[in-house]
Amino acid sequence: MDTTLSREAAGTAPGGRPVERWTLERGGTRVRLLTYGGIVQSVEVPDRSGARGDVVLGLGSAAEYAACRGPYLGALVGRYANRIAGASFTLDGTLYALVPGDGPNCLHGGAEGFDRRVWRAERVPGGVRLTRVSPAGEQGFPGRLAVSATYTLDAAGALAIAYEAAADAPTPVSLTNHTYWNLNGAASGPAVGSHELRLGASRMTPVDAAGIPKGGTAPVAGTRHDFRAARVLDAGHDHNFALDGGADGGERFAAELYAPASGRVLTIRTTEPGIQVFTADSFAPPVPFGPGAGVALETQAFPDAPNRPEFPSAVLRPGERYTSRTTYAFSVR
Ligand code: GAL
Repeated sequence: MDTTLSREAAGTAPGGRPVERWTLERGGTRVRLLTYGGIVQSVEVPDRSGARGDVVLGLGSAAEYAACRGPYLGALVGRYANRIAGASFTLDGTLYALVPGDGPNCLHGGAEGFDRRVWRAERVPGGVRLTRVSPAGEQGFPGRLAVSATYTLDAAGALAIAYEAAADAPTPVSLTNHTYWNLNGAASGPAVGSHELRLGASRMTPVDAAGIPKGGTAPVAGTRHDFRAARVLDAGHDHNFALDGGADGGERFAAELYAPASGRVLTIRTTEPGIQVFTADSFAPPVPFGPGAGVALETQAFPDAPNRPEFPSAVLRPGERYTSRTTYAFSVR
């Protein structure tokens, strides 16, 4: 059976544009997403005993998300996920100034990023496709960018998010989804300390106190960043890991998250070169979740790649097609 799809009105975004909530169901998984910010609002999957529960940190309405923007709960992040140092970069000899927001740096596409936009939704086989056009100059980024994010469920209940984009001028692009996972359920207490994490990464990108890369990558061996073997997730992680495996366009193993109490396992595979692991240590009121309540596992290009020639390029040029795909598979053990 194909994915069961339904849609309902879900209030309005700031500015009054109507928002839809789409529900996708297949293979034991039920996903709700909003056309506001492409937000994954809930993901319900069975635990070891077959009981279905919501494993992401979510809020109720688009207005609630708009009022609680800091954590980017569940959001589709762009035009450039993660930080760009000094909110500027030079491309083909031209200096571009972006809208800062995280101190002097640009974070997650600027003050009004893709997570603050209302997307157009349409049915596609297996799920729903969101589209929008990011005009030239939006938040300072060059070129008009036509973007889509397609959310589908397969027969086994795995969620895939596939992004595509095309631009009429060279521009950095890095799109991700900012869902925070708690495989014991959002109300179960912290994910930190109660989950085990394994990453397909033997290197990571060291950053300064502002989250800006110091340059290059460093081995995780012998450091607190070593998740090559599964171990209990501790607090204090907000880093990009450089994923092992060739950049041949195929999906590679990124992360496995396991919650022994519920038995739920999340396995993430991606075409992206990196994954940001953020343990939500900074959560504080008015965010209605405590520190460490969930862990964000954001597949993406490397932070500040537009200013870092040593990192995999994140520049999209006219005539090229940006494609990115991440799958989130659910199982129990
Ligand atoms: C993460 C980022 C964190 C924090 C968070 C949003 O992707 O790495 O530093 O900004 O988003 O609260």
